[in-house]
Amino acid sequence: MVTARELVLSRRPQGRIEPGCFTLVERKLPALSQGQLLVRADCFSVDPSMIPRLSVDTYAAAFDLGAAVEARAVGRVVQSRADGWSEGDWALCWGGWRDYAVVDASEGIRIQPRSGLPPHTWLHVLGVPGLTAYIGLVDVARMQPGDRVWVSAAAGAVGSVAAQLAKARGASLVIGSAGGAEKARYLTGTLGLDAAVDYRAGHLAEQLRGAAPEGIDIYFDNVGGGHLEAAIDLLRTGGRAAICGMISGYGKPPGPGPGNLTQLIIKRLRLEGFLVLDHLHRRAAFEEAVLPLVEDGTLHTDVTMFDDLQSAPQALLSLLDGAKLGKALVRP
Ligand SMILES: NC(=O)c1ccc[n+]([C@@H]2O[C@H](COP(=O)([O-])OP(=O)(O)OC[C@H]3O[C@@H](n4cnc5c(N)ncnc54)[C@H](OP(=O)(O)O)[C@@H]3O)[C@@H](O)[C@H]2O)c1
Repeated sequence: MVTARELVLSRRPQGRIEPGCFTLVERKLPALSQGQLLVRADCFSVDPSMIPRLSVDTYAAAFDLGAAVEARAVGRVVQSRADGWSEGDWALCWGGWRDYAVVDASEGIRIQPRSGLPPHTWLHVLGVPGLTAYIGLVDVARMQPGDRVWVSAAAGAVGSVAAQLAKARGASLVIGSAGGAEKARYLTGTLGLDAAVDYRAGHLAEQLRGAAPEGIDIYFDNVGGGHLEAAIDLLRTGGRAAICGMISGYGKPPGPGPGNLTQLIIKRLRLEGFLVLDHLHRRAAFEEAVLPLVEDGTLHTDVTMFDDLQSAPQALLSLLDGAKLGKALVRP
């Protein structure tokens, strides 16, 4: 019998997320039933969508109090009672914030790590963040070669993939925004974007106007709030915005919306929200377009790994305070 260590949500945050909202518990796992796997997590994901779900229902229900926080994980099968699965296989599954998990094989996806690609690639560029970037850019914003593109939170998981994909697909200008001078240098240096904007330095609209004096055709929104308002001003006639996320408002009461919405009419803009879960059928097209760019090293996919299960709250907070680069993951 295996004893799992897990972090459960023991109290809902009142305002800021605090480590005290979570409690470490040890739980003896039941013997496997037919069709189940015992998986030892290599690492699990922390995602911005978890932040509001600590408190309220969103497109998915709020997390249950007293239960381990739900999260995607990659790990190795240490015991199998499922046809077609063997000890040592790599699985992508809903492992949660724990080290060992019993999962239904029907809900797990076998991953076959390729040479040079670590398993956590399936939580990043070949997982939800990568697919989200592809859907937002290609299907929602309908980016065309020659378009001028701004991606916010461009040093993060979704944003870094979206910005690099825009370059790879022939955008004439790609601006990335991120917090801090070091991340701005990362955007133009490591990721090879045309321009970077440090939103923490202030004067966001002026910085953007300097980077794109003729405006932009596409805005990939990961942030909302003042970023979205600045984008509405910067978009050219016929411009499109893929509304992917609004992290600047997560865990906060609703604030006032953009004050410049009449620009939507004047410039015939299209702003469209989307959820990647509605686009899972696009997986094959996504892999065909993105996998070669991952395998030949065109796409940089940096990861910040937080070691130890108990660092998960800190990893979640890093999505808000920016104390990470690329995709934030936890190795329990
Ligand atoms: N629609 C969908 O289906 C879908 C799917 C996945 C993710 N998303 C959304 O996509 C966005 C990015 O997700 P991710 O997983 O890739 O996270 P991430 O970008 O890796 O991490 C979040 C980043 O948001 C930035 N941020 C936090 N607060 C901010 C603020 N007040 N102003 C400006 N930037 C702020 C930080 O960037 P800096 O370090 O630069 O400060 C942080 O690194 C999120 O909004 C998420 O909800 C949507």
